[in-house]
Amino acid sequence: MINPDHIERAVELLRRGGVVALPTETVYGLAANAEDELAVRRVFAIKGRPATHPLIVHIPGVEHLSSWAREVPETALRLASAFWPGPLTLVLPRTPRATDAVTGGQDTVALRVPNHPMALAVLQKLGGGLAAPSANRFGRVSPTTAEHVARDLGSDVDFVLDGGPCTVGVESTIVDLSSEEPAILRPGGLAAEEVERVLGRPVPVRTTSKVRVSGSLASHYAPRAGVVLAEPREALARVQELRGQGLRVGVLGPASLSLPTDVPRFDVPEDPAGAARVLYARLREADAQGHDVLVACLPAASGLGIAVRDRLARAAAPRE
Ligand code: TXA
Ligand code: MG
Repeated sequence: MINPDHIERAVELLRRGGVVALPTETVYGLAANAEDELAVRRVFAIKGRPATHPLIVHIPGVEHLSSWAREVPETALRLASAFWPGPLTLVLPRTPRATDAVTGGQDTVALRVPNHPMALAVLQKLGGGLAAPSANRFGRVSPTTAEHVARDLGSDVDFVLDGGPCTVGVESTIVDLSSEEPAILRPGGLAAEEVERVLGRPVPVRTTSKVRVSGSLASHYAPRAGVVLAEPREALARVQELRGQGLRVGVLGPASLSLPTDVPRFDVPEDPAGAARVLYARLREADAQGHDVLVACLPAASGLGIAVRDRLARAAAPRE
């Protein structure tokens, strides 16, 4: 299934300072060799992302952890062995290998081992780290297919590795282990309950950190259409209200929701993991059809439902 020529080409480009979009299980990443400062700067430029917002460094395996993190607490090893490769990012004190260009000058670095055969093949062959934010323009919806990447970034990226649709569909869960108290900086593709089970303690969500976490800006992950949040039982009333204002309205929600047949709808499964998998693709479909507003039904607030609710809330936040 994996074309070795494509892997070879991606690695070659990355070694020469290129920028390559590659699939992970969460979303597609825009990757550069983390130790090549010029290539990393190009990633920021392509995304239009402020240089103070640090990037995640993707590594081939847990055995690489200590070359990027100067302190590896026992909690990090426990989480890494339970969930890597997988949708978990660990923030740890950095070694000099993690440069200012990647960390935004902070003393910590965000690290993860992605769970996608193509990303792993590239990382193993390269043998280093890949700085890779999501492969979208800053503030917009993250890409979950190679087609999304091509449509967003076009010829700005040197090569797009097509690994099919992402299986998780929302970004990794970021856990800060750089201070005494572990904390979740961004809810994501690994449920908080899972992190707490392995650490054997509650892990609070702390999205207002002093560190610049772009996913924590109020407005982020946003489609062009406006987004209005609704509990499923209020969805119809919201639609009627917005239509009354002359707006083109679509609904993002479960197929079980009963709506008049003339209301365009974008099905999002009821189960939170299913909702996470299709969320970004549905937001893009709604934009492609030119809706002014989407009424988005919130999934239950447990498991991956927390991440889906977080992304929808940011999509619904006031924009500049
Ligand atoms: O699933 C993912 O994490 C995807 C795929 C491509 O791996 N990547 C991703 O990257 O979502 P990005 O750049 O869109 O989000 C990375 C997040 C940002 O919010 C950034 O601020 C935070 O990680 N981050 C990076 N380094 C950090 C650090 N040292 N301390 C705290 N947060 C950090
Ligand atoms: Mg992003």
